[in-house]
Amino acid sequence: MSRTLILLALVACAYSAVVQVPLLKVESIRNRMIRQGTYAEYLKTKELRRLYINRGEAATVGQIVSDYEDEAYVGNITIGNPQQQFKVILDTGSSNLWIPDITCGTKPINCQSDPKCSSSLLCQFECEDQACCGAGPNYTDSCLLQAKFDSSKSKTYVANGQNFIIEYGTGSARGFLGQDTITFGGVGEPQLTVPNQVFGQATSLAAFFEGQPLDGILGLAFKSIAVDQITPPFINAVNQGLVDQPIFTVFLEHEGDQNGVPGGVYTYGGLDTTNCGPVLAYQQLSSATYYQFKMSAIGAGSYKSTKGWQVISDTGTSLIGGPASIVSGIASAAGATYNSTYGVYLVPCGTKVPTVDITIGSNVYSVDSSNTVIPLGDGSNNCIFAVFPFNSFGFGPSWILGDPFIRQYCNVYDVTNQRVGFAKSLQK
Ligand SMILES: *[C@@H]1O[C@H](CO)[C@@H](O)[C@H](O)[C@H]1NC(C)=O
Ligand SMILES: *[C@@H]1O[C@H](CO)[C@@H](O)[C@H](O)[C@H]1NC(C)=O
Ligand SMILES: *[C@@H]1O[C@H](CO)[C@@H](O)[C@H](O)[C@H]1NC(C)=O
Repeated sequence: MSRTLILLALVACAYSAVVQVPLLKVESIRNRMIRQGTYAEYLKTKELRRLYINRGEAATVGQIVSDYEDEAYVGNITIGNPQQQFKVILDTGSSNLWIPDITCGTKPINCQSDPKCSSSLLCQFECEDQACCGAGPNYTDSCLLQAKFDSSKSKTYVANGQNFIIEYGTGSARGFLGQDTITFGGVGEPQLTVPNQVFGQATSLAAFFEGQPLDGILGLAFKSIAVDQITPPFINAVNQGLVDQPIFTVFLEHEGDQNGVPGGVYTYGGLDTTNCGPVLAYQQLSSATYYQFKMSAIGAGSYKSTKGWQVISDTGTSLIGGPASIVSGIASAAGATYNSTYGVYLVPCGTKVPTVDITIGSNVYSVDSSNTVIPLGDGSNNCIFAVFPFNSFGFGPSWILGDPFIRQYCNVYDVTNQRVGFAKSLQK
C-alpha cells in the first residue's frame, strides 16, 4: 500500500509540469455588432437590465457583470475521455467553467406562444428558456454554432445534476453541473490535464451568445467568487499537484483587425521566458476573489489622479475601465471624444496618444498607443481609445485593468502567494 502511494507520488511529480497553450485572436463581439449596426440596441437592453438588477428584482448577481462583448482572445480546452474540444475565453475576471450541453437549444418551450417570453426586457427574468430573450426575427438557437458536450460519450464523466445559473449583462447561461477530466489546451496542442473537475453544462444560453466565436467560459479567478463554490480548474490543478509552480502567466499579442490569427500564450505552472522579460515586481492581492490589488495613481500626458483605488487584472475585459470623471480626464489628455452611440471614447486612427501611466506599488507601468488605440472596424477612420467609463456602484474594484495593460505587460497570476507579477511583454 505505502509503496503504491510513493510510486503515485513519484508519478505525480514526474508529470507536474509547465504547459504553454496558444490563444487565437478573434474579432471582438463589440466590433462585429458595431459593424452590423446592432450595438446601440444591445447597449440599451443591457442598461435596462442593469437598472432592473440594481432595483433588486432579479436573481442576485454575485460578480461584476462581465459581458465579453469586447473579448477577442479564445483558447482550446477539452472535456472527457475521449476528448471533446471547446473554444473558451480564459477569463481571470470570473471563476466558473461552463460549456454548452448536447441538449442546449433543444428545449420544447416555444418562444412565440409563451407571453412571458415576448417582452425583451422582462423575458430575461421571467421566461424559462433564456434562449428566447432578445431573439431576432430570424432567430434559430443560441447554441446552434457552439460545440456541445455529450456526457454519454465520455468514459470518465460523473453525474452531479445540481442546477447552475450565471448572470450576464444581457441574459444568463443556465443548466446543470457535471464532473469530468478536463485539459487546458486542445487536441494536438500541449495539454495540462485536470481530473475530477466540476463544470456547468448549459442547456440554455441568452440569445446574445448566438453566433459568437466561442463555446463557453473558463474562469481563472478564486473559488470565493465561483457560482456554487466550485473549485476552479486551475486551482484544482494546483491542489492536485499537477503544476510546477502555483502560477500561470498570460502573454497577449497586440490587437489588430485580423481575425483568426495567433493571439498569445497562457503558460500554466511557470513563467513565460520566451515572450516576457523578467518580472519587474509582484503586487500582493488585497482580496483573493478576483485578482484584486491597489493601484495608487493613473494618468496620461498632463493629467494625473492619485486618489488610489482597488483594481483587478482581468483578461476577460478588452479595455481599461474606471470611474467616469477620471476616465474623462485621461481621455481629454489623449484628445479622445466620447461617442454615446457606441459607449466608448474615439480617436482618429493613427493618433499618437500619450501613454496611460499606471502606478502599482513603487512602479509606473506605461501603456502605449499600440495597445490603447484599437481599430473599430466600422469603415470610418475612428479608433477606440481603450479607456472606458465603468461604474462599480460602490461594490468591488473601481478599475479593471483589461487586455491593453496585459498586452503591454505579461501578468503572472500567483494563486498560492496571492499576488500578481508584471513583466515587459517582449513583442515588437
Ligand atoms: C484550436 O482548435 C482548432 C480546431 O482544431 C484549431 O484550428 C486551432 O488552431 C486551435 N488553437 C487555437 C489557439 O485556437
Ligand atoms: C431574415 O431572413 C430573411 C430571409 O432569409 C432575410 O431576407 C432577412 O434579411 C433576414 N433578417 C435579418 C434581420 O437578418
Ligand atoms: C459615433 O460614431 C459614428 C461613426 O463612427 C457616427 O456615425 C455617430 O454619429 C457617432 N455618434 C455620436 C453620438 O457622436
